[in-house]
Amino acid sequence: MSRTVYVNGSYMPEEEATVSIFDRGFLMADGVYEVTSVLGGKLIAFEGHAVRLERSLKELDMQAPCDMDELLDIHRELVKLNEIDEGLIYMQITRGSDGDRDFAFPDPETTRPTLVMFTQNKPGLADNPAAKKGAKIISIEDIRWGRRDIKTVQLLYPSMGKMMAKKAGCDDAWLVEDGMVTEGTSNNAYIVKGNTIITRALSNDILHGITRAAVLRYAKEAQMQVEERSFSISEAQGADEAFTTSASAFVMPVVEIDGASLGDGTPGPVAKRLREIYLEESLKTAI
Ligand code: PDD
Repeated sequence: MSRTVYVNGSYMPEEEATVSIFDRGFLMADGVYEVTSVLGGKLIAFEGHAVRLERSLKELDMQAPCDMDELLDIHRELVKLNEIDEGLIYMQITRGSDGDRDFAFPDPETTRPTLVMFTQNKPGLADNPAAKKGAKIISIEDIRWGRRDIKTVQLLYPSMGKMMAKKAGCDDAWLVEDGMVTEGTSNNAYIVKGNTIITRALSNDILHGITRAAVLRYAKEAQMQVEERSFSISEAQGADEAFTTSASAFVMPVVEIDGASLGDGTPGPVAKRLREIYLEESLKTAI
């Protein structure tokens, strides 16, 4: 069934949605995005995503196409029109098109940003069988640019990383810079030692995950220790557990890193518990 999508002020069938070939998102990857999950027909952590979007726009000196309340209304309308119970909403804002190709940014007074949104229906997102099995990870060098805190649409290397993992018979890749894990291709990375959860501290080296912020808060509330520091692949291989977090997969247990099984090779109790808490708690504040 065709989806109803949103482009620059209009709702339309996906087949009719177009943007210019001169759009800077297309030519220059000059755009930012957010992915918000939907559970029970409601948006999870929308405010966090809206705040991060505003920050991404500001860091790139890009205009917002409308205010955040309007973005919320569009999200809700798309959920309704597409009858999404469990799934994702993808939102992308680019610097727009001034009808040609030029490295210099166009004048924001005359070139409007492009706003595109669409839904991805994913029944069973919360009860994902992959989370019961756990993910197998490979490590690859992190060769991305230096502003990973900005959620840009430059996703070629993360896509290549996922393909390298697939080719190796694994599910995902963790990126390593100067011997330390930065994050996953599309998620934040954690290890667990005893009652302590270890994850890299926030900086320009990683995306400031909205799920990360919530999970660390819930972990502290559940009396777990949280250490925000870097770790290496060999420390991760010797950890009791590992997991990743993202808006699209919530808390995903990791059971193997570069061929080394963690624990007994099945999802660990801390990751399983955090997944449960995350789903339970985030539903309470879903809008
Ligand atoms: N990815 N790190 C990277 C590189 C990411 O792309 C993502 C999210 C995260 C987790 O952030 P959050 O918890 O706010 O989703 C960390 C999204 C889901 C994607 O690109 O589909």
